[in-house]
Amino acid sequence: MKRFSIAVLPGDGIGPEVIAQAVRVLEAVGERFDLGFDFATYPIGATGVAVANDPLPVATRNAVVRSDAVLLGAVGDPALDDAPRELRPETGLLALRKLLKVYANLRPVTVRPALLAASPLKADRLHGVDVLVVRELTGGLYYGEPRGRNGTSGVNTLVYTTAEIERVARIAFTAARERKKLVTSVDKANVLEVSQLWRETVTNVAREYPDIRLEHTYVDTAAMRLVSEPASLDVVLTENMFGDILSDEAAVLAGSLGLLPSASLGSGRGLFEPVHGSAPPLAGRDIANPIGAIATVALLLRHGLRLAEPADAVDEAIGAALDAGARTRDIALPGEASIGTVDMGDRIVEYVFSEALEGLA
Ligand code: IPM
Ligand code: MN
Repeated sequence: MKRFSIAVLPGDGIGPEVIAQAVRVLEAVGERFDLGFDFATYPIGATGVAVANDPLPVATRNAVVRSDAVLLGAVGDPALDDAPRELRPETGLLALRKLLKVYANLRPVTVRPALLAASPLKADRLHGVDVLVVRELTGGLYYGEPRGRNGTSGVNTLVYTTAEIERVARIAFTAARERKKLVTSVDKANVLEVSQLWRETVTNVAREYPDIRLEHTYVDTAAMRLVSEPASLDVVLTENMFGDILSDEAAVLAGSLGLLPSASLGSGRGLFEPVHGSAPPLAGRDIANPIGAIATVALLLRHGLRLAEPADAVDEAIGAALDAGARTRDIALPGEASIGTVDMGDRIVEYVFSEALEGLA
């Protein structure tokens, strides 16, 4: 039996609840496909601050670099909003991304037929929507120096090097090969020098991929296109902050932020986390949607462990549960019955096994 060690970082708010369901699904997949997963849980975010006064405690750092893949819930706690930067939950996540050198964040957005009505967009706009946001994750405004506050001024720096742009661009072009072969690169080259470098560099990288079509779009236009003609997009390549914003916007297409998974890839092991945050008002109430975390498990299997068939099984189980009408509150239509976090996990686990029986029949 193949064995994999998974570092589990549930984090804050709804993180532990959705990750519990994701882990159950992974265990079910392990049983069905004869794979062994060794899970070890470590603190991050506000949980890290609570136990070790550090949003990325040393024990967590040591564990993630020894694991085969890292599964993360969410970080964030309003109680720490006024804490110094080094004690903010988000600082732990940014340090983790940097530590793992995961410079490319893949955020796929598809519209599941069963959820067409859950999207605020008209159904005709949603037909054929299949977008992959490739967000640069370890550079840009989030990390640029100088940064800081000085009395009545505050500063952050948007800086990219050619090498940083090239490596994330290659991930986008490579992904496009398996898709509709279009890369839409997002920038603000009419205003920002760093965006001019971005545009030039992406254009140069495109020469290595003659089979892929490249278009450049300003970020404001990209924001508009995402909701006006989302089906015209395939791979959307963007710097860190633009990608943060556009991926939340893209989540609206799917029907709920609670549905979206992400994979952060780089030089070695990957970091896998749902796109949604810690959602403090939902925490501890068994109402959060675990599908984002469970779909994240599919990405972990596919990109982190290179196990395509088990990954497909997870995606199919999610689809089957939705087709059968399972809805958490965020995706239920007005008046429609909804189920809780654990029940949704139950349904998906059931389908992981029942699909296997169908396969035998
Ligand atoms: C995300 C989140 C994070 C980000 C926060 C929690 C630091 O919004 O993963 O999109 O901005 O990258
Ligand atoms: Mn975000």
